[in-house]
Amino acid sequence: MTIPLSVIWKDEQLAILDQRLLPQTVHYETLETLEQVHEAIFQLKVRGAPAIGIAAAYGLALAARRHHTIDIDLFRHYVKQDAAYLVASRPTAVNLAWAIGRLVSRIDQSRTVEQGKAQLIEEAQLIRDEDEAACRSIGEHALELLAEKEKVMTICNAGSIATAKYGTALAPFHLGKERGREFEVYACETRPLFQGARLTVWELQQAGVDVTLITDSMAAHTIGAKGIEAIIVGADRITANGDTANKIGTLNLALLAHAYGIPFYIAAPVSTFDLSLQTGSSIPIEERAAEEVAAIGTQQIAPAGTKVFNPAFDVTPAKYITAIITERGVIRPNDEQTIEAQLYAVPSKGETI
Ligand code: MRU
Repeated sequence: MTIPLSVIWKDEQLAILDQRLLPQTVHYETLETLEQVHEAIFQLKVRGAPAIGIAAAYGLALAARRHHTIDIDLFRHYVKQDAAYLVASRPTAVNLAWAIGRLVSRIDQSRTVEQGKAQLIEEAQLIRDEDEAACRSIGEHALELLAEKEKVMTICNAGSIATAKYGTALAPFHLGKERGREFEVYACETRPLFQGARLTVWELQQAGVDVTLITDSMAAHTIGAKGIEAIIVGADRITANGDTANKIGTLNLALLAHAYGIPFYIAAPVSTFDLSLQTGSSIPIEERAAEEVAAIGTQQIAPAGTKVFNPAFDVTPAKYITAIITERGVIRPNDEQTIEAQLYAVPSKGETI
């Protein structure tokens, strides 16, 4: 049983698992240029908020090696141009801009171009390693919250292949497996691109976790018929008031959880919070090509030329969220205290306040 990985940095090379080919083909593609990294993110070869941040960070560091100037100011200028290009590859997940922002600030203090190039790689590596630790810690907190629960529903893929390792919403299932704790996971297929059917089902099967696939429209019936006890999903951006953008269909599940009176949990690292935005109405929502809805793969299903609306994400208002599980602890968005105060109230491991 294995927990699959999506972004691998080895021997100074960047390889990503091409998630468009899953589950039929497991293929790691080596990315060498800035354009290839941009394309891989845009086409969802690499996807999931933390994973695109990590891939973009390595991509920026790789591209920086090719800038053959010894003028540090000019070097910083080139890196900033590359950074803006990568950030534009997908708009909704804030982890992308956050990771790239960390690299750009890292070279503010570099004295030489050589030093700057080395520091960019170091920072990308740090972001990857911190994400793995964050996901493990999210898994620990989520296991506690799900203590008495067995049957849990999820949507999209907020798993190991959407992060450095373990995932966010899927972390408790991976950690639970390591400890002999059995969950029954119900995965919504996640139209239009089937991240649930293709990726979550594959990932959990690889790890030996019990998983059952349903279509998105079966969620309401399944909660009642199978006695689902909780819903847990990932996030692409969480605003200061706790509103949360995640894969399209998440809001449906939050409303269902509310109607059924079961908990609805968001699992996300601190890097997914965007405290500069007050509410979810300011989150940019990516709209994707009509063919993703009008066709399934290469098979056209709607009449040619059909008008399509294809938002890739929706926003769940904080009032429908029972708790947000982060690496720093569990936040209750509907508490008296603000999200920011709760986020920084709990010291993370090894940190003292
Ligand atoms: O369009 P995708 O597949 O990148 O969407 C991914 C999601 O919505 C995930 O739930 C989110 O990024 C969290 S991943 C830990």
